Amino acid sequence: MAEDSQCRMARSSHGPAHRAVLGPVHHLSTGAPRYSLRDPSVPTGTVAAVKRSVNIGVLGCGNVGAALIQLVAERADDIEMRTGIRLEVTKVAVRSLSKERDVELPAKVFTTDAHEVVADDDVDLVVEVIGGIEPARELILAALKSGKPVVTANKELLANVGTELFGASDDAGVDLLFEAAVAGGIPFIRPLRESLVGEDVARVMGIINGTTNYILTKMTEEGWTYAQALTEAQTLGYAERDPTADVEGYDAGAKAAIISTIAFGQRVVAGDVSHEGISGITSTDIEFARKLGFQIKLLAICERFDDGAVAVRVHPTMVPDTHPLASVRDSFNAVFVEGDAVGDLMFYGRGAGGFPTASAVLGDVVDAAANLAKATHASLGSFAKAKIRTIDELHYRYYVNLQVADRPGVLAAVAGLFGSHGVSIRSMEQESLHGEAATEGQARLIFITHDAREADLRATLHELRDLDAVTSVGSVLRVIGDE
Ligand SMILES: NC(=O)c1ccc[n+]([C@@H]2O[C@H](COP(=O)([O-])OP(=O)(O)OC[C@H]3O[C@@H](n4cnc5c(N)ncnc54)[C@H](OP(=O)(O)O)[C@@H]3O)[C@@H](O)[C@H]2O)c1
Repeated sequence: MAEDSQCRMARSSHGPAHRAVLGPVHHLSTGAPRYSLRDPSVPTGTVAAVKRSVNIGVLGCGNVGAALIQLVAERADDIEMRTGIRLEVTKVAVRSLSKERDVELPAKVFTTDAHEVVADDDVDLVVEVIGGIEPARELILAALKSGKPVVTANKELLANVGTELFGASDDAGVDLLFEAAVAGGIPFIRPLRESLVGEDVARVMGIINGTTNYILTKMTEEGWTYAQALTEAQTLGYAERDPTADVEGYDAGAKAAIISTIAFGQRVVAGDVSHEGISGITSTDIEFARKLGFQIKLLAICERFDDGAVAVRVHPTMVPDTHPLASVRDSFNAVFVEGDAVGDLMFYGRGAGGFPTASAVLGDVVDAAANLAKATHASLGSFAKAKIRTIDELHYRYYVNLQVADRPGVLAAVAGLFGSHGVSIRSMEQESLHGEAATEGQARLIFITHDAREADLRATLHELRDLDAVTSVGSVLRVIGDE
């Protein structure tokens, strides 16, 4: 995924990569005593009981997999000192054995048969960093069934069949951990499921796609057009040649489904999320937003209402300059949580990239290895299907950008249409568009509304498009912040 390709930047900041081709170069084992897991001869509850050598089978050795293998090699001594657990990567599945990789492992560790890794008796714990739904799903199910904890970074998989996998993990009594699947290197899922488990979380808002945040930042700060910013993002490796998943909000939507499931304890899947992307945002929108004291951000908004219903959507949003999310620039991510007792919290950092993501995977690996040694696992419990409130029923303030004929009576006609649907106008800006033949005799009207129901706003827009004096309806953006 495009968002995922940010590792190239992150890796270069991590320090010199170990460049090696497959070959018998280096072995990670220190010869630390290896106890078989759940060895009955080792008394439980003692330091010796948690001193374990845990063999990791890694499915995939791309951006994240290769970074994880490097991190395990670099951090294994320290992790052993702190936790008593010795980690070692003993098996790696890839598609091609001939590819050069930035890891130092003997050639015999690699295989093209991912099932062989899962089934290997010597593998204690499986990391899935292949991506996609299949074969990742069946591999994870097979690993869990055979009592092996799994760590995955796969948002697409969890956003579609997450509850099936959580159930399989509970049935097997072993961990399925996925910190890296949402907001890459930012530790957010663990705080959400552990630290905030007693909290009444009403709303989570996130900038959880670095590619789109980079594009919007460049449009705002450098005055670039959307096309210019996208081209630069592609050159830097932030965006794919086909950028649809990122710029149309699908990537953020998958993450929002996972966040909602964990935050609200209800099953939300990718199909429940409504999304709009940033490809229609113009330099004019950016300029007006700035004049009015806002930044345009692609936000994922996960909300639970008093009746228990949940609304999850991704759309470009006008965020007041004073809101903490407005200051999240470039490819950084941030997640803003509104809790009843705790108040506002914000988690900030690198939402993608090989090493940041591998750092989150490694944290999960250590956790799962410790739980395995203690024969326990972290359960998410069971989830009922969420009652989804559609976007039509939600209330927002709106920014509406219209191009109209610059003649008397037009403003009154347009304002009258808003009023007839119960959408009241909070402020209006007008500018004449003269100077270019194409817009001669035209004016731009920018409205900010008071809180209105989405369905009423849509009905207004529908009629505005039919009005003779309206040349075009441009961007329509939701506005957050106090009235
Ligand atoms: N990259 C990020 O910044 C990031 C951030 C958050 C989450 N994630 C998630 O992490 C996962 C991995 O992402 P990535 O960027 O590392 O992907 P990637 O660079 O495309 O790597 C995928 C790896 O999986 C291997 N592979 C694919 N299909 C396979 C199969 N059937 N059997 C065995 N190996 C197979 C590939 O082998 P070859 O190398 O031989 O082609 C490659 O090594 C995805 O779920 C992604 O959404 C990534």
